[in-house]
Amino acid sequence: MIFFDQFNTQIVVNLTYILASMLFILGLKMLGSPETARKGNLVSSSGMLLAVLVTLLDQSIIDFTWIIVGVCIGSLIGFIAATKVKMTGVPEMVALFNGFGGIASLLVGSAEYLSGFDQNAALLIAIYLTVLIGGVTFSGSLIAWGKLSETISGKPYLYNGQQIVNSLLLGVLLLAGLEMIFFQGMFTENQFQILFIICLLAFTLGALLVIPIGGADMPVVIALLNSFSGLAACAAGFVILNNVLIVAGALVGASGLILTNIMCKAMNRSLANVLFSGFGAVTTIGSEAKVSQGEVRPINTADAYLILEAAASVLIVPGYGMAVAQAQHSVRELGELLEANGAEVKYAIHPVAGRMPGHMNVLLAEANVSYDVLVVPEDVNPIMETVDVCMVIGANDVVNPDAKENESSPIYGMPIIETDRAKIVFVLKRSMASGFAGIQNPLFFKSNTRMLFGDAKESVSSLVAEFKS
Ligand code: TAP
Repeated sequence: MIFFDQFNTQIVVNLTYILASMLFILGLKMLGSPETARKGNLVSSSGMLLAVLVTLLDQSIIDFTWIIVGVCIGSLIGFIAATKVKMTGVPEMVALFNGFGGIASLLVGSAEYLSGFDQNAALLIAIYLTVLIGGVTFSGSLIAWGKLSETISGKPYLYNGQQIVNSLLLGVLLLAGLEMIFFQGMFTENQFQILFIICLLAFTLGALLVIPIGGADMPVVIALLNSFSGLAACAAGFVILNNVLIVAGALVGASGLILTNIMCKAMNRSLANVLFSGFGAVTTIGSEAKVSQGEVRPINTADAYLILEAAASVLIVPGYGMAVAQAQHSVRELGELLEANGAEVKYAIHPVAGRMPGHMNVLLAEANVSYDVLVVPEDVNPIMETVDVCMVIGANDVVNPDAKENESSPIYGMPIIETDRAKIVFVLKRSMASGFAGIQNPLFFKSNTRMLFGDAKESVSSLVAEFKS
């Protein structure tokens, strides 16, 4: 009878896991479009809630005290983080959460290992991978968080023989893994010792892998670490034989890798270049920016208003500076005034504009800009000559014509929004300073470009005021 009950519970649990997995996949699919992204988030989280609830039916849980304590503490941290964090702080928060995921998997693997219960080679491989990937993810994510939040310097830290040191460390980790899986007790006295050594080496490797990467490349690294945290969870699923953890971990692992790939492609850089080139180590900001490429033509808001007032089509290209200035609400207001004035207004979003995936989409959605007016570079580049005014608001690298024209440029080959081909281009920024890539932008010196210097929010608000008066 007891067997029958357990058998039935197992069927219910596994069927619910299948349903939860379907909700994860459906949710991920919905995250692919800004219109359905919010619902997608809800669908995936419902799947996770279902998976967690049904896991609590597990017969092997003998005491719920620690589970309840964990749920309370976790929910409190999650609630505070979700309500307090600023939009520009989301990448840092994701970095920390990846780290938590990594350390959670490491702890699950370690607890299972130290329990010493029925450990065959397959289980030990899963434990080893859980601890290794979890440890690398944890320390790597902490360094990524530190660099992004500027708790530590965001500069790439490079030294001679860096790759050799990392390879040696990886080699020692592999040897330690062999001892853990096949030759227990060969070099160390007990299970705790070898586990401790593997954890320490994994933490060191994670930190060493991330320190040579520049702070501005951290979003790519965070997507990669997100993928690692998924793989660690997947391995933990094999350790505790939990199907939904295996599926969820694999989905996070795969989607993190896909996102990493999308970002690298949009910057026309390989993952190896992001991880090992120390991009940003040589600061070209000062030197390059001072090299004059001709004369710039400043414009004031009163004159800019007159041109905008007569425009039949306006293309708004937001970038990182719009996020810094928090100008999205004023930008939306200006867009509405232009439309009311009879202009066709579109927003061109570059996939790596800003500092995190979907950065511009999130800001414009927050300001209630309709999804219908958002376009991607491929839509708008072929018709750029027909655009009367292109307003580049705090964007720089993603509109740099050197990416098409200058083979010696570090961003050569990166797809851009070709604003230089519009009839008139307004560039809204505070100075002639460079953007993330630290290079000068020939767009600022073109004859059809007018520089509207100042904080983006102030400039756009002044234009709004001109329209209203
Ligand atoms: P950037 O090239 O970084 O340029 C941003 C510009 O905004 C700067 O030149 C700055 O000029 C201006 N700015 C800053 N604060 C401002 C303010 N308050 N008001 C007006 N302007 C302001 O930005 P982008 O064009 O969006 O390109 C993004 C870059 O980040 C790309 O190189 C991309 O490869 C890189 N990246 C992106 C991601 C993701 S996932 N989005 C990930 C990694 C790397 P002033 O100082 O003169 O104002």
